[in-house]
Amino acid sequence: MAILSARGLGKRYGAAEVVKNLDLDLAPGQCLGLLGPNGAGKTTTLRLLLGLIEPDAGSVRVLGLPVPHAAREARIRIGVVPQMDNLDPDFTVRENLVAYGRYFGLDAATLAARIPALLDFAGLTARADARVPTLSGGMKRRLTLARALVNDPDLLFLDEPTTGLDPQARHVIWQGLRRLLGEGKTMLLTTHFMEEAERLCDRVVVLDHGRKIAEGAPRELIAQFIEPTVVEIHGDAAEAWAEARGRGACERLEQAGETWFCYTREGAALADSLAAEPGLRFLQRPSNLEDVFLKLTGRELRD
Ligand SMILES: Nc1ncnc2c1ncn2[C@@H]1O[C@H](COP(=O)(O)OP(=O)(O)OP(=O)(O)O)[C@@H](O)[C@H]1O
Ligand SMILES: [Mg+2]
Repeated sequence: MAILSARGLGKRYGAAEVVKNLDLDLAPGQCLGLLGPNGAGKTTTLRLLLGLIEPDAGSVRVLGLPVPHAAREARIRIGVVPQMDNLDPDFTVRENLVAYGRYFGLDAATLAARIPALLDFAGLTARADARVPTLSGGMKRRLTLARALVNDPDLLFLDEPTTGLDPQARHVIWQGLRRLLGEGKTMLLTTHFMEEAERLCDRVVVLDHGRKIAEGAPRELIAQFIEPTVVEIHGDAAEAWAEARGRGACERLEQAGETWFCYTREGAALADSLAAEPGLRFLQRPSNLEDVFLKLTGRELRD
């Protein structure tokens, strides 16, 4: 039983087809990551699934309801963290939670019972009476996440929940999201942090130019698309090494700036031979989802 499913979803803006023939499925209690370069269509897809914009093609069901036809009813059981924070700057932390809860029709007693736990979840109990402009970026993001939980949703839409945050703040949010998954919530998450998707998501969909180009569990995609080891090589002699030896030593060799990425099944042997070369520095590591992402979507800037 899918909690969310989309079939043949399409959206165009003028001549630009920004979502193309997209199928998505999300089972209860799972986290699905929506990955893709800037402009790939992630936010547009979330807006289609929420019924905030009309598709030009395809059908969507969320929580058993047809969207956009019954979108309002569906959204009562959904929590949303938008890509851009839209907290009310004139209100305090607590007032933002109260105002959002009222929007869902929650009465004062329910809100009074729920808000202390949300403040605690966000680590904002001590800042409950602070106004939004006095909060750090991490605090605002935590407040937006807490606000998304005010209606005790079954399903969460998280559009880049940790962009712009420092590593400490990101880890705090990851911990919160894992806790929510542990409680049985379902999540659709977009992110540019492949580590975030690998840590949180059961499955990821990679979008490029509005089209699904890959789908699977992070580990499966790594096994399917890429050699198991990467050796990142730089230093004065790196270019000469790449030209003379790179093709023979690597199954795939890519350059990004001053670094060569050598993808190989023979990482240990390569590392031994590189250690003997003067003027080279290198790092041997297991391939990860970011390597898959770069292989599938390329290394050029998008917009
Ligand atoms: N309202 C709109 N009118 C016209 N074009 C739009 C509109 N909204 C989005 N687009 C275009 O649709 C494409 C997809 O945008 P979208 O915001 O969905 O990408 P994204 O994957 O979320 O990117 P990012 O990672 O930068 O957030 C982009 O080319 C964007 O310029
Ligand atoms: Mg976006």
